Amino acid sequence: MCGIFAYLNYNVNRERRYILQVLFNGLRRLEYRGYDSAGIAIDSSLSLDPNTPQCSSISITPPPLIFRQEGNIESLVKSVYHELNLEDSFSIHAGIAHTRWATHGEPSPRNSHPQTSGAGDEFLVVHNGVITNYEVLKETLIRHGFTFESETDTEVIPKLAKFVFDKANEAEGDQTVTFSQVVLEVMRHLDGAYALIFKSRHYPNELIACKRGSPLLIGVKVRRLESSEFKASKNIDLYAKQFSVVFYSFTLLKGVLQCRLLTELTENMGNGSAFEDNNFLSKNGHPKELFLSSDANAVVEHTKKVLVIEDGEVVHLKDGAVSILKFENDKGKHGGSLSRPASVQRALSVLEMEVEQINKGHYDHYMQKEIHEQPESLTTTMRGRLIRGGSSKSKTVLLGGLKDHLKTIRRSRRIVFIGCGTSYNAALAARPILEELSGVPVTMEIASDLLDRQGPIYREDTAIFVSQSGETADTLLALQYALDNGALCVGITNTVGSAIARNTHCGVHINAGAEIGVASTKAYTSQIVVMAMLALAIGGDTISNEARREAIIDGLFDLPNKVREVLKQDQEMKDLAKLLISEQSLLVFGRGFNYATALEGALKVKEVALMHSEGILAGEMKHGPLALVDENLPIIVLATRDACFSKQQSVIQQLHARKGRLIVMCSKGDAASVCPAESCRIIEVPHVEDCLQPVINIIPLQLLAYHLTVLRGFNVDQPRNLAKSVTTQ
Ligand code: F6R
Repeated sequence: MCGIFAYLNYNVNRERRYILQVLFNGLRRLEYRGYDSAGIAIDSSLSLDPNTPQCSSISITPPPLIFRQEGNIESLVKSVYHELNLEDSFSIHAGIAHTRWATHGEPSPRNSHPQTSGAGDEFLVVHNGVITNYEVLKETLIRHGFTFESETDTEVIPKLAKFVFDKANEAEGDQTVTFSQVVLEVMRHLDGAYALIFKSRHYPNELIACKRGSPLLIGVKVRRLESSEFKASKNIDLYAKQFSVVFYSFTLLKGVLQCRLLTELTENMGNGSAFEDNNFLSKNGHPKELFLSSDANAVVEHTKKVLVIEDGEVVHLKDGAVSILKFENDKGKHGGSLSRPASVQRALSVLEMEVEQINKGHYDHYMQKEIHEQPESLTTTMRGRLIRGGSSKSKTVLLGGLKDHLKTIRRSRRIVFIGCGTSYNAALAARPILEELSGVPVTMEIASDLLDRQGPIYREDTAIFVSQSGETADTLLALQYALDNGALCVGITNTVGSAIARNTHCGVHINAGAEIGVASTKAYTSQIVVMAMLALAIGGDTISNEARREAIIDGLFDLPNKVREVLKQDQEMKDLAKLLISEQSLLVFGRGFNYATALEGALKVKEVALMHSEGILAGEMKHGPLALVDENLPIIVLATRDACFSKQQSVIQQLHARKGRLIVMCSKGDAASVCPAESCRIIEVPHVEDCLQPVINIIPLQLLAYHLTVLRGFNVDQPRNLAKSVTTQ
């Protein structure tokens, strides 16, 4: 997975220093998506500028400046600032940027983006996703004389763009194909998942973006001109038009790709918008700054007004106008009859996030901040969804996104939870309460495993997809599989507008706020809380469950306070981390509601502290893991009060008998009963309703993982080889 970003200023004078700052800040915000290499492409000072009338015969601008580097963004920043004159000013400038998590080809400058069409850099592309048919395309392009420099799948895209462009111009003599036409044609030949941004010397001051499967949005910042200012700006607009590309419709039948390019494209959008600013997106002289980004984090510091791009759409930024085009259907793919692209009208959305949410505040790391903000994130998750009136009868749960589907879910033959990593663990933590309250059998599927097995999913099933990012490739493919099999599909995500949110029949947003640390923490606890509320909603208000339901709702109301209490153990967990700093391995034993806590605690330790750690179902201890126990290997046993408590007491005794090095997590006041001998270390946590206990119990383990990582000197927010959301299979 990677992050892509672009910045286009129109009719606003900006120094190169500012443009670079915007691009680099965008990349810093996206760095959690990939951090093994980075790159940018910006205009050279000689590019066409509408304030400086040019000779009309110029048809291609000077080559852009391209910088690509292995390593993190700061090393790219250093080398760029070192080489450039930062004072040059541009009233129109289109820059693109990329931060990479390697999938095809090792991290290196030549595998970094922007990838280029070859000598002369006529077309440049930044890409997030994977092109699955790149080998076929590469062979075809090599047959047509292209040579490849990188090992990436992406490199075929700019080369294909050049191929399409050259063929079109060959066929039409002096006529010129538009940038949108080129990209629409390129897109027809790409398989896989992608969000792309194109920049070209043939289309100065324009950018094109398109997507299928990977996320992309446009941020829009417009300054309204006073009428006197506006008059002056008209002159600027005239110059801008001098360099705009003429639209032609034509059909091209030559070449291997048999490109049939597209008829005239509508440029303006925004009529009838619900937002007053929408008409500012059509051509006019109002100064605009436009941002393309893989996610909202990189945009919110500039503007809260965004357009979310849908799959199959092509966005054209030109002369201050934003136009969105989409094929009405996909018939045209691979040589069929090509449907016409239609112009898409879309109102601007307003981001609800605040800049503070994506800053570290007074914390040293995002993971630390996100662990400590769980009382607030859980409150936001529950806001407006829990109703507690005067009488007990009025205690209820409202999940607006599900209300029309609850009956169908109750009648399902089974509920299938599907997710990956931490999201899977959150579903596992919620499984017992969902089974208990709904009476519907609940099965668990790791998304990739479901796909590998092509496991059975039926029309009568409810499939619940759990994903923080809402864009994990395995989960998305499993969603498509479940849709194809006719199941009712429910999404639980933290990302409004994400692919999973859009493609499921209904769902619930967890509203945990932006999670930037690669290791998921606050999203995990919010996911559990949403699924506990889901269990309450599906369970309905049966008399037999009344007392249980009320206890859970009361427990939910009090949960943020209990989380605050457990967070006070920060120093205690730091001390424990000091003891464990040099260990090779750590086991975590849990069962019942806390089997998931064992898996998730171990996952946190291994992914950030880079220490081998394994979550073990305590009931399986005697069937293998016991062989590992000795006086050296540290073992955390989760033994808080619930129906499995006495079984966990017996596990502790057996481990103790084998001289196990024990760290026991128990409910407050239970230290003596779980560990009579002084040989074990105790972590005491507040007691809450059993199905909510996983929310409490994971927090000391999150803190332990955090401190272990910092003490061991590793990067806690960007663990080795990992990316925040995994958009490739
Ligand atoms: C671990 C972690 C990953 C993700 C997994 C699924 O801390 O974050 O295991 O949980 O990659 O990601 P989402 O939830 O975005 O689908």
